[in-house]
Amino acid sequence: MTPLLETRGLSKSFGGLVAVNAVSLCFNEREAHAIIGPNGAGKSTFVNLLTGHLPHSDGHVLLNGADIAGLAAHKVSRLGIGRSYQKTNVFPSFTVFENCRLAAQSRLPTSMRFFRPASAYAEVSERAAAALAAAGLSGRAGRIAGTMAYGEQRQLEIAMVLATEPRILVLDEPLAGMGREESEAMVALLKDLARRYTLILIEHDMDAVFAIAQVLSVMVNGTLLETGPVEQIRASRAVQDAYLGDGAEAY
Ligand SMILES: Nc1ncnc2c1ncn2[C@@H]1O[C@H](COP(=O)(O)OP(=O)(O)OP(=O)(O)O)[C@@H](O)[C@H]1O
Ligand SMILES: [Mg+2]
Repeated sequence: MTPLLETRGLSKSFGGLVAVNAVSLCFNEREAHAIIGPNGAGKSTFVNLLTGHLPHSDGHVLLNGADIAGLAAHKVSRLGIGRSYQKTNVFPSFTVFENCRLAAQSRLPTSMRFFRPASAYAEVSERAAAALAAAGLSGRAGRIAGTMAYGEQRQLEIAMVLATEPRILVLDEPLAGMGREESEAMVALLKDLARRYTLILIEHDMDAVFAIAQVLSVMVNGTLLETGPVEQIRASRAVQDAYLGDGAEAY
């Protein structure tokens, strides 16, 4: 079976630093796959290579078997790989709905954006409304984004990714900076999304990872330490020593 998304020997160097070192991983359709590892392990850099936000140094990124490594981020987005960022990325002075509509519009072909026919406008608005509903934010459509609680702003970011109609959701630390209640709401949302999307999730909160993911990959110093079903990785001695064992609370 061809994985939906696959990397082969994917690498990225920043000068002398090898941030991602020959990482080969498979992401299967409708699987929730978490990438964990200590700070600086190369997790964000790895997903930046997947989504075209950084040029790779070597290797391949295969989407349905076709190499997409080196494509610009907006092209990767139109191929159905949507991503959120480690830091918040909403337009704070725009309403929740406007933020979502802008995201939905980014998926339209350029010609459609230029002419703005009424039908395209309606379609974009519908897509934005559907994405808000899927992210549990229907009741917040008219709010100025910057005035919402932090947890809701992060929910909005998920809605903005959904508005681009992705098949694969790439989420970089969606729980970062959240309190306990906000985290619980986000975990519930991500579990729900995991039923309908292929999820690639970077997260330090191991309770959340175990609640959401079926597959776990561990990166350390740019390399892939281990990958496999969550239970296998949980029981792995190498992973225990490198990450989950003593001192894991620090992450
Ligand atoms: N644009 C860049 N230029 C130079 N070095 C970079 C750049 N981006 C990342 N790095 C370096 O690459 C390494 C991997 O960073 P990366 O952000 O991918 O780690 P991470 O696993 O996402 O860490 P964290 O858990 O803290 O988010 C780090 O040593 C980092 O300093
Ligand atoms: Mg990171």
